[in-house]
Amino acid sequence: PARLDAAVRKTSQSSRASAVVGKDRLILFDTTLRDGEQSPGATLNLKEKVEIARVLSRFGVDICEAGFPIASPGDFEAVKTIATEIGPLMTGREATGQPMRICGLSRASEKDIQRCFDAVKHAPLHRIHTFLATSDIHLKHKLNISREECIERAAKAVKFASSLSEDVEFSTEDAMRSDPKFLVEVLKEVIAAGATTLNIPDTVGFTTPIEYQQVFEYLIANTPGADKVVWSTHCHNDLGLATANSLAGIAGGARQVEVTVNGIGERAGNTAIEEIIMAVRTRPQQFNVYTSVDATQITRASRMVTSFTGMAVQPNKAIVGENAFAHEAGIHQDGVLKHAETYEIMTPESVGLSTNSLVLGKHSGKHAYKARLEELGYTDLSPQQIDEFVDKFKRLADEKKVVTDADMEAIVADEIYQPE
Ligand code: KIV
Ligand code: ZN
Repeated sequence: PARLDAAVRKTSQSSRASAVVGKDRLILFDTTLRDGEQSPGATLNLKEKVEIARVLSRFGVDICEAGFPIASPGDFEAVKTIATEIGPLMTGREATGQPMRICGLSRASEKDIQRCFDAVKHAPLHRIHTFLATSDIHLKHKLNISREECIERAAKAVKFASSLSEDVEFSTEDAMRSDPKFLVEVLKEVIAAGATTLNIPDTVGFTTPIEYQQVFEYLIANTPGADKVVWSTHCHNDLGLATANSLAGIAGGARQVEVTVNGIGERAGNTAIEEIIMAVRTRPQQFNVYTSVDATQITRASRMVTSFTGMAVQPNKAIVGENAFAHEAGIHQDGVLKHAETYEIMTPESVGLSTNSLVLGKHSGKHAYKARLEELGYTDLSPQQIDEFVDKFKRLADEKKVVTDADMEAIVADEIYQPE
C-alpha cells in the first residue's frame, strides 16, 4: 500500500537496521565456501576462500560454513586457516559485538566430526555441523539402513559432537521428502543428545512455500524440546523457489537461514544471501524478523565471488545482476529521472552500488537521451537538433541494441563538426 512507501524506502536505504522491538534477529548462516563451492567448476583456492570469509565477516554474517574438513587436506587447511585468521576479526561487527562463528560440515561419524572440530576449534566461536539423510529414498538406496538405525546414528553423532563443542547443528538431509512424523522422532533424539540448531534442508529443491512453512509449524509444535533450539532453513533452487521457500520457513518459525552469495551451489544453487537480506529490508512489515548485516557490502561480496569462482551472474539476477538497477524503457526512464522511487523499490546505494543506470536502447525516450547528452556536455542543443539526434540514436539502437556514450558522441560530432 502507498502509505507504507515512505517507511519501506527509509528501511531499504539504511544499510544497517538496528534491533527492532518485537522482532527476532534473523541469523545468517553463509555456506558459499561449502555448499556454494560444490557448484560444478567453482573450486576456490585457499587465498580466495580467506578473502571471501573476510568480506562475509565485515558484512556482518553470523556464521560462515567454511568447508567440509574431511573432504580433502585442502578443505581442512582452508577451514583451519579461516578459523585462525578470520575467526577473531571484529571489523564491521558492531551490530552483534561478536566475531563470526566458523563452522565445518561433517557426516554423522566420529572420524568426520573429530576432523571437523580439529579445524574449527581455532576460532573463538565455532560450530560443528553434522548431517544424516532421513528420507526413505536415501535410507534405502544410499545408506542402506533402517529408520531405527538412522535415529541411533544421528543421536550418537550429535552426542559425540556435543562432547567437543557447545554449538552443534544437525541437518536432516532430504528432509522435504521425509515423513514428517519420522522427522519428529529423529529431531527429538538429537535435541536430547545436545543439538543446538536444527536444520531442515530441502536438499533437492522439491518443496513449495506453503508446504515448507507448514512443515516448520508442524515440527516446532510437535518436537519435544523445540523451544530450546534454533530452527534453520536450507533451500536449493531446482524449481526457482529457494528464496520464497526460505522466507516461508521463516514465517513458519525458522530463525536461521542458510544462504550463499549470488545463490551459487549444487545444481541450480542455494538461496541467495542478497535476496533474503533485501526482501526482509524492503518489506519489513511482512516479516517477524530483522537482519543487522551491512547490506552495502552486497555488491562487493557478489563481485568477489563472481571473479574468484568464474561463475557469471545472469544480467537479470535480482539485486546483483547487471540490470538489477538499469532502466531501458522510455516511460520508466522518464519516471526515474523525475523521481527514482517511481520504478525502484530499493536504492542502488543500499546494496553498495554508486548509482542506477539508464541503458539507452530502442525503448528509451527523448528525456533519457537528452539527459545523457547533457551529461556528456552537450547542453546547448536546440530542440530540433535533439529530435534529429534521438531519431538517429534509435535507428542505431534497432541494429545494435544498446547505444553507448561513444556512439552518441560519434553521431553528434559527425553532425556538429562536419566540415562545410
Ligand atoms: O542440501 C543439503 O541437504 C545440505 C546439507 C548437508 C545441509 O547441504
Ligand atoms: Zn545443500
